Order: sequence, then C-alpha cells, then structure tokens
Amino acid sequence: MKPKMLMCAPDHFGVRYVINPWMEDQIDHIDTDRARAQWETFYHALNEKAEVHLIEPRRESPDMVFTANAGLLVDGVFVLSRFRHKERQGEEPHYLEWFRQNDREIVKLADGIAFEGEGDALPQPGQDWIWAGWGFRTDLASHRFIEQKLGRPVVSLNLVDPRFYHLDTCFCSLPDDRAMYFPEAFDADSLRQIEARIAPENRIVVSQEDAEHFACNAARVHKTLFMNHATPTLRERLESLGFAVVICPVDEFMKAGGANKCLTLVLDAGDPAEVLPQR
Ligand code: ARG
Repeated sequence: MKPKMLMCAPDHFGVRYVINPWMEDQIDHIDTDRARAQWETFYHALNEKAEVHLIEPRRESPDMVFTANAGLLVDGVFVLSRFRHKERQGEEPHYLEWFRQNDREIVKLADGIAFEGEGDALPQPGQDWIWAGWGFRTDLASHRFIEQKLGRPVVSLNLVDPRFYHLDTCFCSLPDDRAMYFPEAFDADSLRQIEARIAPENRIVVSQEDAEHFACNAARVHKTLFMNHATPTLRERLESLGFAVVICPVDEFMKAGGANKCLTLVLDAGDPAEVLPQR
C-alpha cells in the first residue's frame, strides 16, 4: 500500500517574523515563484511514491507549509501540536479541523505544554519507541504525555544548537534500525541514548556541510529519501545501504528554517514493516 502524507501548498508562504535563526534577515526575501516551483517539483516527485493529501493554506499562517509541525499521528491517534510561538498558534485550529474531518482520534496536551509534532517526534521504523526532541520548541513534559497517550516509550533528546531547533533538522530515523544524524546538535547524554539504540554500523553521521544544508531533514517513503542536498560522500553511503536518493532542492524554504521533511507529515506509513509492533 502507498504511504499517505500531508502537505500544504505555499500560496501564502513567506518570512514575516523571526522565530528561528534561519529567518533572521529574511523578512520578505522569499522569491515566491521560485518557492512555488520548488514545492511543485517536490510534491510531484513525492506523489509518485506516496499518496499526498493537501490541507488548505491560510493567508494569516505563512509557515503552514511546514505540515510536519501539525502534530504526530501514531497508531491512528493524532496528538495535536501546541506551538511555542504565538506566530504559529493560529495554525492549530485548522489542523484540528482537518484531522476531525478525516476521522482521527485526537488528543490535546494540557495547557502550557509546548509540542511541535513530527518536527520534534519521530518513530523508529519497526521499533516501538519514538525519538523526541526538546530544548527549543517542545517541552519535556510533552514527552511523558505522549508516552502515556500512545503507550510507546519516548526517548528524549536534548537539542543544543539553535540552528537545529527541531529534531527533524538534525535527525532522521531510518528502516533496518538505522538513523542519520548530526551529533553536534545534541548534548552528551542524548548522544549516548542514540548510541545505545543504534549500532555503530547503522549510524549515518553527517558532516557539518550536509547538516547545514538540512540533509537530515529528508522526507522518506520506504527506502526513498527526498533531500534538499547530499554531498557525494553521504549519497554514496546511503545508496550503498539500499536507499534511493532523490534531490529536490527547497532552498527558498530553508530561509524559513525548513526543508523537505518539514514540508510533509506522515498520515500512514503504508508498509506493515514500518508499523510499530504492537506492545
Ligand atoms: N519557520 C518555521 C518555524 O520556525 C519552520 C518550521 C520547520 N519545520 C520543521 N519541522 N523543522 O516554526
């Protein structure tokens, strides 16, 4: 079965405020035609491998293209995001409405607990746990909440570099017990957590150059990775492990601090091997 993903067209995409370091000096600097063309190319490439659903863009929400931040959908339960910054909080009711109309069970966090969805929460394919970032956008308290509501262990990873403010900017969980990540974005304890679960031969450690071009922010459909950029070294490593690498540049979106993965949300991973085993 084809996986299902959610995207949002960039009709109203722009940089109109600064809530991460990538957005600094970028106010009103988006080339909207170029952004549209990049988004379309990526959308069509992804839509060949997955069934891409669309949520209606909103004029007042220029960051709504980054659907990864809508929430986290696991085992049919949707944990709605609660954004850290007021600039994005207006997106919440639209995601809530979309998931309601699409018959998903919805859970909401207690007041005052920030959580930014798949931007900070990534299941490990074929395993029961969920990796979750905290430190910039998501509160640690949300990890315990998710653990309870979803009945899955949550491995908390502390992000320490403001340029890599969401987990999906510096970490990508991969099938066959692998993960691709940029170690400098994590504190020492978090690196130990990663190393305790991912065997040395399964760790795909990316260089600073790849990290700064958001190589870890890959949108994945089974073993195909849609990436903004990959150095030849990284590309060869991924291909030698059986991944297909499709480069879809989205540098206009990087001005807002996001790339391919941020532009998508997983609605259904599609393959039984991807589904987390029942506990
Ligand atoms: N401008 C957006 C923000 O700062 C970018 C979000 C990127 N999304 C992600 N999943 N990393 O919230």
